[in-house]
Amino acid sequence: MTRTLIAGNWKMNGLVGSLTEIERVAAAVAPSQTGPEILLCLPATLIHPAAAKAEGSALKIGGETCHPKEKGAHTGDISAEMLKDAGATYVIVGHSERRADHGETDAVVASQASAALRAGITPIICVGETLAQRDAGDVLNVISEQIAGSIPSEGAADTIVVAYEPVWAIGTGRVANSEQIAEVHGFIRELLTKQFGEAGRGTRILYGGSMNPGNAEEILGVAEVNGGLIGGASLKADDFLAIYRLAA
Ligand code: G3H
Repeated sequence: MTRTLIAGNWKMNGLVGSLTEIERVAAAVAPSQTGPEILLCLPATLIHPAAAKAEGSALKIGGETCHPKEKGAHTGDISAEMLKDAGATYVIVGHSERRADHGETDAVVASQASAALRAGITPIICVGETLAQRDAGDVLNVISEQIAGSIPSEGAADTIVVAYEPVWAIGTGRVANSEQIAEVHGFIRELLTKQFGEAGRGTRILYGGSMNPGNAEEILGVAEVNGGLIGGASLKADDFLAIYRLAA
């Protein structure tokens, strides 16, 4: 049975003082092998102290990107091994903000996901169309290309997570409607079963884009939605926990 994943993405937000929010989330979630998984992907500066705060709770900590290589002369970058060493068990790769701000292509994303697998952490591989691509009727082509190019060859159905994040729904308050979400998630599921066979039914597909406590229940109820990747609403412990509880 697929275990729902409620994942937060703090993006470039959070100072050391914000660890109190993380402490509040950790204190509210007792470890359990059942029910939804809960994860916060954080700026690199917060990963190690957050992992210490989360110890003994169900809260997992993740990174927001990683370099394809293990180490070397790459000033300012962080490797998947470093994330793991700091306490991360997941890493987001291919977020549309990274694709746009840093020119990360599908090939780069695949190599980052591959690095995560090498380090023994789970990549959350993001895909999603822009508004122009949706208006041009190109959604499924874009998704199909991104999935084909961003999942590394050594990825297996149960070692990766996919996140569908329509770019036009990120941070805009404009949520994709249930039909739009169902269409793309169903399509991604088809692609995953083509790639992995029956095992592809178990790969988790998260929805991301203006998800909040007010709309989470409906979104999480859409077919083939196995969790959420939550930006703004993950910054406050109360909102994030409210979404987590709706998933339980
Ligand atoms: O990774 C998270 C997504 O980009 C969604 O962000 O919930 O602030 O729209 P948002």
